[in-house]
Amino acid sequence: MTLYPVAAREGLLSVLDLINMKARGEKIACLTAYDASFGQLVDEAGVDVILVGDSLGMVVQGSSSTLAVSMDDMVYHTRCVVKTNKRALVLADLPFMSCASIDLALHNAARLLRESGAQMVKIEGSKPEIVSALVAEGVPVCGHLGLLPQSINQLGRYAVQGKSVVAADKIIEEAVALEQAGISLLVLECVPSVLTERLSQALSIPIIGIGAGGHCDGQVLVLYDILDISVGKRPRFSKNYMAESSTIQAAVGAFVKEVKAQEFPSLEHGF
Ligand code: KIV
Repeated sequence: MTLYPVAAREGLLSVLDLINMKARGEKIACLTAYDASFGQLVDEAGVDVILVGDSLGMVVQGSSSTLAVSMDDMVYHTRCVVKTNKRALVLADLPFMSCASIDLALHNAARLLRESGAQMVKIEGSKPEIVSALVAEGVPVCGHLGLLPQSINQLGRYAVQGKSVVAADKIIEEAVALEQAGISLLVLECVPSVLTERLSQALSIPIIGIGAGGHCDGQVLVLYDILDISVGKRPRFSKNYMAESSTIQAAVGAFVKEVKAQEFPSLEHGF
């Protein structure tokens, strides 16, 4: 794989750094954060990517899904994280319905990059035409396949995806189409490890897994889950890092260390 020269912007990691990490075999550690204090804490603990996820709808706003999160919410929370971040790449979610057309996606991605300082946007689902339009305008895009929380009303429940051969093949086809459209990163949520292994052979971009097993280039978890303070039950694929840590800083540091050492996820966290 090509190693690109790294042009750091104000000391921040860029998407090229992530591609180089994959080429070196260094695992990418990613956590969510939604405010300045936790943003600073996870950045200082060595997280490579901070995801300002629309999971904030559940863990910050107390909703039962991510659907109520607005563009204004995303801009506000991303701006808070960006203010204290010094090194991590800040990736922000395009929330439900914010990229239902190319015009809407261009407008909303511009808001996240201009008004909040995000470096990359994440789009849920198979939308290659939207990805191409954003990439053509210079916006780095992360795809998101597998379990799609924004489609919960179609799915009915938060469950493992891609279990049948047909469903697995569809996810692989969609991922390849997204890569061809220009995504430079893929979040893969809640799929069997065998599917992740197949995908890692089909794609050349880094794959960041959540409940997707160890055949990934990095791992992402919801911060409040690893600190065991989420509203509701912690998902099986996550881990309570407070169980063996006396401070939040130590818990986040342990997550980063375990991802880098490929100790997380273990088999019990996969499907
Ligand atoms: O919103 C979020 O936190 C996410 C993760 C679950 C990957 O998209």
